[in-house]
Amino acid sequence: MEIAIVGSGYVGLVTGVCLAHIGHRVVCIDNDQAKIRQLQKGHVPIYEPGLEELLKKYYKSGRLSFSGSIAEGAKKATVVFIAVGTPSKKNGDADLTYIENVAREVARSMDSYKLLVEKSTVPAETGKRIERTIRLNMHPRFKNSKKGAPQFDVASNPEFLREGSAVEDFMNPDRVVIGVETKRAERLLREVYAPLKAKIVVTNLATAEMIKHASNSFLATKISFINAVSRICDRVGADVEKVAEGMGFDKRIGRAFLNAGVGYGGSCFPKDVDAFVRLAEKSGYDFHLLKSVRQVNAEQKASFVRLIEDKIWNLKDKTIAVWGLAFKPDTDDMRSAASLDVIHALQHEGAAVRAYDPKGMERARNLLPGVKLCADAYAAVKGADCLLLLTEWKEFSSADFKKVMKAMRQAIIFDGRNFLDGEALSDMGFEYYGIGRGHVQKT
Ligand code: UDX
Repeated sequence: MEIAIVGSGYVGLVTGVCLAHIGHRVVCIDNDQAKIRQLQKGHVPIYEPGLEELLKKYYKSGRLSFSGSIAEGAKKATVVFIAVGTPSKKNGDADLTYIENVAREVARSMDSYKLLVEKSTVPAETGKRIERTIRLNMHPRFKNSKKGAPQFDVASNPEFLREGSAVEDFMNPDRVVIGVETKRAERLLREVYAPLKAKIVVTNLATAEMIKHASNSFLATKISFINAVSRICDRVGADVEKVAEGMGFDKRIGRAFLNAGVGYGGSCFPKDVDAFVRLAEKSGYDFHLLKSVRQVNAEQKASFVRLIEDKIWNLKDKTIAVWGLAFKPDTDDMRSAASLDVIHALQHEGAAVRAYDPKGMERARNLLPGVKLCADAYAAVKGADCLLLLTEWKEFSSADFKKVMKAMRQAIIFDGRNFLDGEALSDMGFEYYGIGRGHVQKT
């Protein structure tokens, strides 16, 4: 099929490349001309495992192309995915300006049937607004034409890709949700995904939009739930990791997303939770459960900083090493990373921070002024009064901790992801603090 993707960010690019991989002809469009020029040279602007290889392969074969113009790029396409950003406004509402602009531009250049598919996370009822925008912007052109305006459909096909494993997630989805209002739209979207042989859930547009809201907010709730439990574990000498394991065997609960830590971050959960709270508010429901999820997440970072303060005493003039800046491993994405809040709080108290992240340093540079970005994990711990692990990159678990201990001024580790072997580190002579690990803490 001929497919266009508008918006070549994380979601758009991964979707475009993967759709080419399963056999479609795909144009990825973006209004950032510099980004398009980079992509046309085969440079991938983000780090996502497996993406660069596939992108180069299909670009070379001609199945994947890039364009800086919707009119030109979407001309041949029957299916146009909208994957532009929907940032949060100050009041938590999703800012849908980019979505409206895309709908308007598609309408202006449309001369044959098109199926517009929302991929970005949008509030319920956005589909209706896209439809109206297209009608308003297309009809005047066809007022005097005998044939009349071309037909179109709007559908919702929310993405559930996790950064760091997005290509893998695309190829092996738990389910594909398609929200449609016509049989034609359903047939086309089934055809798009047919090669994946995935479970397809067909609903109306508003329900598909709601599935996305509810799924992401539920996952955020799971994380905040276990983080709240971790706070109690710390107080009563229980181990949250074992609690999660014990809970997880219950099929109704499941072990996934029960990892306690310094809190969730990223481009999705914080923004999506805000947007769902606002959507509920506008519909007349006070979603207090979700408001608490948000509050627990903020407290988790603050309590981590308090723990550090408690154990290393005065933060002023202390040197603190940080391993991991990206919001999660296997990505260079720094958006709403927990590391940002934790580091800012430490700097505010007068601590000097030295940090290392395998992929996130370039993006971190502007976001973390005053932080000394180091060439590797060992350089980061030089002369440090304590080490914080904030992102669970694999390479940190296999570090040479004898070397680490030698380089540090004080052998204290705060493991914000319960990732390291706390008992082994304690045996080596480190003071080790995890999250909710009552039993391994030696004070
Ligand atoms: C998420 C959803 O998983 C995905 O379905 C949706 O499409 C986009 O948002 P992503 O933001 O890439 O994906 O990351 P995810 O792996 O879900 O992690 C989000 C955050 O939660 C990270 O900061 C992670 O460290 C944190 N997290 C995750 C926990 O703190 N504990 C957990 O158990 C799981």
